Amino acid sequence: MNLSPGLLLRDFRLVDETLDMPGSVWIEQGVIQDVFPQGATLPETRLPMHRTIHGGGTLVLMPALVDLHAHFRDPGYPEKETLESGSLAAVAGGYGTVVCMANTKPVIDTLAKAKTLKKRADALGLVDLYPVLALTQGMEGKVLSDIHLLKGPLSKTEPWIRMLSEDGKDVVSDELLYRALQEAHRLGIPVSCHCDAGGPEAEEAKAAGKPREFWSRIAENHATQRVIERARQAQGHVHIAHVSTKESVDLIRKAKGTQQEKTGPQGFTLTAEASPHHLCLTHGTAHALGDATWGRVNPPLRTEVDRQALIEAVLDGTIDAIATDHAPHTEADKLQGAPGFTGLETSFALCQMELVLQDRITLSRLSALMSASPARILGLTDRGRMAPKFRGDLIVVDTEAAWQVNPDLFRSRGKNSPVPGLPCTGRVLITIYQGRVVFESFLSHDS
Ligand code: NCD
Ligand code: ZN
Ligand code: ZN
Repeated sequence: MNLSPGLLLRDFRLVDETLDMPGSVWIEQGVIQDVFPQGATLPETRLPMHRTIHGGGTLVLMPALVDLHAHFRDPGYPEKETLESGSLAAVAGGYGTVVCMANTKPVIDTLAKAKTLKKRADALGLVDLYPVLALTQGMEGKVLSDIHLLKGPLSKTEPWIRMLSEDGKDVVSDELLYRALQEAHRLGIPVSCHCDAGGPEAEEAKAAGKPREFWSRIAENHATQRVIERARQAQGHVHIAHVSTKESVDLIRKAKGTQQEKTGPQGFTLTAEASPHHLCLTHGTAHALGDATWGRVNPPLRTEVDRQALIEAVLDGTIDAIATDHAPHTEADKLQGAPGFTGLETSFALCQMELVLQDRITLSRLSALMSASPARILGLTDRGRMAPKFRGDLIVVDTEAAWQVNPDLFRSRGKNSPVPGLPCTGRVLITIYQGRVVFESFLSHDS
């Protein structure tokens, strides 16, 4: 039951994937009831008890962000992140929905473990969390996880499971991967694929002592090709996680082209995500941070050619969504070489600066990439847009706010940002979850 009073958001620039206009929004019972264009008479005196937030005509109101890929490290690694710290980081970054990967301790490989996590997240009431189920027991790549025991389609029986993934590694066995994809197809949900399982050429280069940036590229390209082929056979929906090389982009573009030709039994669904760090940074940043420590991430930060190819792929729709791959680690773990960057609290600003302020895409398109499209990939038809009947998950953004990344101020326990000290433009001031304000930046009072 949602007992929060109504919320009137007055005089905003309203932005979603198809909208960019001045207006106001009325939320009640956690759901958007009305979207009023500027100039419409607001029935304010007839509205029940409510709070009003004023946008002053310049602040942006957008759908809350939807993250297809985060690591909350819960259970098992509270020194890196917990459900609580991860959820607080998510709302501070403007997220209303987060998919959490299964590489925890223990691995989320049963319905019971996933359900416990979901219940705990719901009790916090900050963000709608979707645990992924691992493809194999313990992510050991030997025996299928619970997925073959589940009844499909999952959207009917277990609607809080929307994605399967072995993220952190790949399922090496072709046969097991094929069976997992078939189960996912039967269950009607996508499999997010990490894509760095080497192949002989990458293994040879690795054994010969070639640098990581050399063999990891061969590995990503090989793995991407492999899961596309397996998905073609299994007919499932494969989602490629954290795409980083130009060659992978080309493979995905080509495969999507054939998919569009609807070649009968060849038909399958292919979607792909890019991370803010691969869209905005290159290996120069990794070198400066320390290739084996603070700059280490899977896949590694690549060249400017790769980065531009990723941006092109965002422009032509080859990349469907932006996902953080929020991967918090402790300082000690980073110094030992743990790969990954904390990312939930900087993703909006990084993408806005790189893509919108550089005039590559509009704010509406960024909203599509960070809200509507990831919601569609998850089959969540009730969010990611700003229209009546959609969830009251919205964010207030000051697109001009200047601030500086200070990991010490992150809600996330992971301070391993690749951009500490970076001057940023654009900030999430308020996050609204089902009509309730769950985050308010102190900066909103400064501006
Ligand atoms: C992730 C992690 O730390 O769990 N690390 C990373 O470098 N991206 C795993 C992953 O996303 O592959
Ligand atoms: Zn991964
Ligand atoms: Zn990941």
